[in-house]
Amino acid sequence: MVGSLRTGIIDTKNYTFYKEYSDIISGGAWQPSECVARQRVAIVIPFRDRQKHLEQLQYNLIPILKRQQLNFRFFVVEQNGNHTFNKGRIMNAAFLEARKFDDFDCFVFHDVDMMPEDDRNMYTCTDAARHMSPAVDKFLYVLPYTQLVGGVLSMKPDVFIAVNGYSNLYWGWGAEDDDMAARLQLKQIGIVRPPLTIGRYRMIKHSEREINPVKVRLYLLKTVKDRFMKDGLNSLEYKTVFVKLTPLYTHIMVDIGEPPRDANKITSLMAKK
Ligand code: UDP
Ligand code: BGC
Ligand code: MN
Repeated sequence: MVGSLRTGIIDTKNYTFYKEYSDIISGGAWQPSECVARQRVAIVIPFRDRQKHLEQLQYNLIPILKRQQLNFRFFVVEQNGNHTFNKGRIMNAAFLEARKFDDFDCFVFHDVDMMPEDDRNMYTCTDAARHMSPAVDKFLYVLPYTQLVGGVLSMKPDVFIAVNGYSNLYWGWGAEDDDMAARLQLKQIGIVRPPLTIGRYRMIKHSEREINPVKVRLYLLKTVKDRFMKDGLNSLEYKTVFVKLTPLYTHIMVDIGEPPRDANKITSLMAKK
C-alpha cells in the first residue's frame, strides 16, 4: 500500500483547522501553485445524514488529491427532506449544478463512506469511464462482479451526457449503479479499472437503508435499453433549495421530488406486460 489510510479519530471541533486545510478555498476548492493541474476535477458526494463519514473522507482524501496535484472542488449534494433516497437523481442534479461553477474536465462520483487507501489511484478521468473502487474491504478486496461500477466512478462530462446521466427511477438501495453500467455498455463506452493493488478502499460500516424491492430493480434493469435516452439527465426535475460555500465543500441542497405514491406502480406496470 502506498500512502496511508488516516484512521485517527477526528476532533470535529477542529475539523476545519488541519494544516492540509489551511489553503483550501471556501467551497472546498484547491489547485497546485507550482504547476497547472492536468484536469479540473469535481468530486461529487451524494449525501444525507452521514456527517462523520464526510469528515473522515475529506481527512483521507484531501492530502491525496493535493499530492496528485489536481485542481479540485468538493460538491456535497444532499437530498432535502425525508423521502426515500434516490442517488441517481442526486448525481444528475449535482452534475448540472457543478457545471455552473467551472468547466470541469472530470467528475468523480464518490460514496461518502469509501476511504481511499492508495495514493496511486488517480482522481482523474480517461476517455472510458473508470471504476476506481474495484477492491473494497467489504468484498475482501476483490471485484464481486465484472459489471460493478458502484462506490467511486470517474467520468468525463461528455461521457456522462452521452449516457444521459443516471436513471431517475431508482428509489432506495440498489442497482442504480448497475443501470449506469448498462448505459455505458449500450453506448459502447468502456469501463476501466486500476489494478486491485491500487484501487483499494475501506468502507465505513453503517446500518443498511431502505431497499428498492428486488422485482422493481430487476424490471428496471431489463428495460434500460428502451428507457435510458429518455430517463436521466434530460428528464430530471429538481429544485435547488440552497447552495452554500462551507470551508471544505460546496454544499448543495436539492429537492428531487418523491417516490410514486403507489409504491408498486412500477411492478404493476410490469404485471400489465
Ligand atoms: N447516502 C447518504 N445517506 C443515506 C443513504 C445514502 O449519504 O441515507 C449516500 C452516501 O454517499 C453513501 C451512498 O449514498 O455512501 C451509498 O449508499 P450506502 O452507503 O447506503 O450503500 P452501500 O454502497 O453501502 O451499499
Ligand atoms: C447492487 C448494487 C451494489 C452492489 C454491491 C448489487 O446487488 O445492485 O447497487 O452496488 O450490489 O453492493
Ligand atoms: Mn456504504
